[in-house]
Amino acid sequence: MADIESLLKEKRSFKPSSEFVKQANWNKKTIKEYRKLGAKDPERFWAKMAKKNVSWFTPWKKVLEWKPPFAKWFVGGKLNVSYNCLDRHLVGDNAWRRNKAAIIWEGEPGDTRVLTFGDLHREVCKFANVMKGLGVKKGDRIALYMPMIPELAISILACTRIGAVHSVVFGGFSAEALRDRIEDAGAKLVITADGGYRRGSPHALKPAVDDALEGVSVVENVVVVQRTGQDTRMEAGRDHWWDDLMKDASAKCPPAKLDSEHPLFILYTSGTTGKPKGILHTTGGYLTHVTTTAKAIFDLKETDTYWCTADIGWVTGHSYVVYGILANGTTSLMYEGVPTHPAPDRFWDIIERHRVTIFYTAPTAIRAFIRLGDEHPKSHDLSSLRLLGSVGEPINPEAWMWYHRVIGGKRCPIVDTFWQTETGGIVISPIPAGVDTKPGSATLPFPGIDAEVVTETGEPTVPPDGGFLVIRRPWPGMLRGIWGDPTRYKETYWSQYENIYLAGDGAHRDASGFFWIMGRIVDVMNISGHRIGTMEVESALVSHQKVAEAAVVGRPDDLTGTAIVAFVTPIMGKEAGPELIDELRGHVTKQIGAIAKPAQIRFTDALPKTRSGKIMRRLLRDIASGKESVGDTTTLEDYSVVASLREGDE
Ligand code: WTA
Repeated sequence: MADIESLLKEKRSFKPSSEFVKQANWNKKTIKEYRKLGAKDPERFWAKMAKKNVSWFTPWKKVLEWKPPFAKWFVGGKLNVSYNCLDRHLVGDNAWRRNKAAIIWEGEPGDTRVLTFGDLHREVCKFANVMKGLGVKKGDRIALYMPMIPELAISILACTRIGAVHSVVFGGFSAEALRDRIEDAGAKLVITADGGYRRGSPHALKPAVDDALEGVSVVENVVVVQRTGQDTRMEAGRDHWWDDLMKDASAKCPPAKLDSEHPLFILYTSGTTGKPKGILHTTGGYLTHVTTTAKAIFDLKETDTYWCTADIGWVTGHSYVVYGILANGTTSLMYEGVPTHPAPDRFWDIIERHRVTIFYTAPTAIRAFIRLGDEHPKSHDLSSLRLLGSVGEPINPEAWMWYHRVIGGKRCPIVDTFWQTETGGIVISPIPAGVDTKPGSATLPFPGIDAEVVTETGEPTVPPDGGFLVIRRPWPGMLRGIWGDPTRYKETYWSQYENIYLAGDGAHRDASGFFWIMGRIVDVMNISGHRIGTMEVESALVSHQKVAEAAVVGRPDDLTGTAIVAFVTPIMGKEAGPELIDELRGHVTKQIGAIAKPAQIRFTDALPKTRSGKIMRRLLRDIASGKESVGDTTTLEDYSVVASLREGDE
């Protein structure tokens, strides 16, 4: 029997236009050659990429040292990440980039700032000197709790300049979550702001830092950026205003020559229970991975204005707002606020005004836009766009089609990029000139990434059966461990199969070898002995014209073992009643079969999501089976969503 059964039959396929193919960074021939090399000799492939895309002070002696499950890449090599993102764009053939925009920033109230590579270099050097002045040394951990403002990018780049290890904590987390992360990393310095703008008003951050630091002795200093000008308590001796420290800081700060395996950052991901895991990334391998994938997958060009909507508090913001983009000398747009302020067309307005060419966002945002209606994007000129990307969750085929049609004007290739905080960079994705995309499939592994879908016993699955997504060989951007917890690192990722990385996602491959991610393994439902992933049933629901978003979970059932419960968000203005329930049950049966027909359908205006926009099915499972929720809920974006779903139960 299949480990996970695949029910969805998606037949549509889309070719990149010949104009796109002609101008692509990686053409069909290159891709073929790299795929071949990556499969035969991945170390040689990555070494080639490291040489081509990254500047080194000292070359490495050994490409890979693999003592499972611990990997070292480019052993003996020395480099600096901020040098790669900044200095190398100011010299030689690239010297003209000094006056090219590195960051185009837009605040939620509409204020804007443009920092050229020259400006950014100066600010980074100055802040690196500020940190040195506060006693920060190579290897020290720095916690950042900030809004999406240029100072966040400046701060992390300044850390990399001197070899300090940054740990960015998303500004939406609570004081308690911040304290856990500061203590776990042993951070010596915290960088924050008085507040940031969200949904039209200033949202304070500094009070949460004060609460988090109560009784915490490791932190010596706090640097506070003035963003909103709101009243802010400053503790004498500990707290300093950013501007005061920067005023007299020197703009000369040579980049530290760091070992390839020097720790670059820690980023916490929340497990479903227990304390969050501090995912550790290091320097040379990570930079090689993100710089190479960004160039190939986003097809970054000198003339692009690239916009990734992720917050720098998530790995997507680290790898593809800052490092992978600036290292390629590309202009990165940063936006501070929410997509719907002051109106539901804010994103489309930004794209039109700044003439954005590449747009990278998450399925959760796409589904929210579908719900709001097509009139918002349609009222803007989006013709500057030439490539679209998706990340964070499986994208339902109908959401993909909407993205393709309404945002991409049917002309932009879509790259559905699968990866994780743990993988550091994209591991499965179309390379736009090289594959015909299918809505809902992340297509193929990047060259040099040995991904596979396997059964419980580790054999590759036979299409169309699904199984467990794994990576069979180390890759340069892979996590190097969980901060301070090697045992948990081994248990979580390396204990199911010997020396093989377990991603924790279910997937299947189709007859052409394409990968289809089916959702997290823990969410798989067992219906009358059939193991069914969440993605396909949800996609069947979303393919109904009145549905914007759906989440399915299993609840215990005497007859079938588990029964499917669907939580459905209709498109705004669409009637949600008993008739729609019947229609949807019929629709799912027709789309994928009676086995997947939901036993119960509930309508809701919103689904419980993590702060990075992923549906939290664990909480829905508890609601569906009438249980209290246990385990960590600090990552929940909006508790009132759960409360109102529970009320509906009574
Ligand atoms: C999910 C985000 C399907 C998946 C970069 C993964 C995806 C988790 C995709 C990692 C995609 C991310 N298709 N699922 N294109 N991208 N995921 O650590 O479940 O925030 O394991 O990293 O998101 O989330 P994380």
